Amino acid sequence: MPQTVRTKNAPIPKPGTAAKSSGQAVKPARKPASTARKAKHAVKRACILTGGGDAPGLNAVIRAFVKTSIDLGVEVYGSEDGFEGLIHEGRLVKLKKSSVRGILPRGGSILGCSNRSNPFAYPIRDDKGVERYHDVSEQVLARIREHQIDVLAMVGGDGTMSYARELMKRGVPVIGVPKTIDNDLAATDYTFGFDTAVETATWAIDALHSTAESHDRVMIVELMGRDAGWISLHAGIAGGADVIVIPELPYDVERIVAKIHERAARGVTFSIVVVGEGARPRGGTVSTVARGRKGHLARLGGAGQALADLLTGRIPHEIRVTVLGHLQRGGSPSAFDRLLGTRFGVEAAWLCQRGETGLMVALRGQDIITVPIEAVGGHSKLVPTDGELVRVARAVGVELGA
Ligand code: F6P
Repeated sequence: MPQTVRTKNAPIPKPGTAAKSSGQAVKPARKPASTARKAKHAVKRACILTGGGDAPGLNAVIRAFVKTSIDLGVEVYGSEDGFEGLIHEGRLVKLKKSSVRGILPRGGSILGCSNRSNPFAYPIRDDKGVERYHDVSEQVLARIREHQIDVLAMVGGDGTMSYARELMKRGVPVIGVPKTIDNDLAATDYTFGFDTAVETATWAIDALHSTAESHDRVMIVELMGRDAGWISLHAGIAGGADVIVIPELPYDVERIVAKIHERAARGVTFSIVVVGEGARPRGGTVSTVARGRKGHLARLGGAGQALADLLTGRIPHEIRVTVLGHLQRGGSPSAFDRLLGTRFGVEAAWLCQRGETGLMVALRGQDIITVPIEAVGGHSKLVPTDGELVRVARAVGVELGA
């Protein structure tokens, strides 16, 4: 078993702020929810993994979990690259306090992430080089037994929480920590990573203003978020975008054309248009770049260019498209994400040491709470189309295309 942790991501400095929204069935963090399982014996050893894509703040969770657990007398192991460490030999690392020193400002995860390591549909190439999917969960269970891991702390999004449910059915005590820059998990008001993504996107919108104005152009910026428009709406309002199109409101291109003409008539010769990657024209389809592999969603991309194509010939401006992409997932986490990650990590360690499993930590209002993992997932938290944020955007003159 290796004794040191790889540090995959070098520190990159960057600033930060905060945000808001809603959720479902909850319990205050200290009291175990009714479905919580109580460990039969004292918890001596935990394992933590970071599943799915990365999000700024993962290292804050790992650091808080490791420091708190060790102080409570619980040994901590880390599984490298999501489930890889539990599937393959030699990829579980013992985490000491020294392993997590200095990692708070770093983006990524010191353990590595993987959205290919689904233990229930794990891709393995056959001798003809064709990738086939196998259930390797028995290997995971064997490694958990072999290393005498009492509790598995799983940091991840909907996919990771669905694997958590499957492992619970097979008798593995699990604690969940929610993560995604998209902020679309219904069980928590906020996920860490979202705030940093909004900061980065807002910075990009600010930067596009000066070049748009200098060249009298329409600048389209495509932002992440999958089927949820949270990043686009937050960053678009914060960055003063003129048009924001989100997946929840299929857009009418005529309204966007009219908005750009109306600005031109007022002598404003440029416009900034924010496009959520999951946005689509009314009656049209979502833009994708690749089909999803088994058990995975399709890769989104091209929504910005699709809108540019619809605008071409309808407005006198030159149009340029910027796809911000994974810049939104990289870099140093904001103060908000470091704090939220730390709070989640500490709470997860407390639950773990008390042997209260089957729960996911979450943020409700100002409080850290727990929700049963069984109740998590399946329902994305989308932007309410008649909600306050949408009304605020309209009130300050943003065209939403609908
Ligand atoms: O869910 C987080 C997210 O960054 C989405 O916003 C985006 O569509 C997707 O992941 C990108 O995934 P990948 O890293 O596999 O390209």
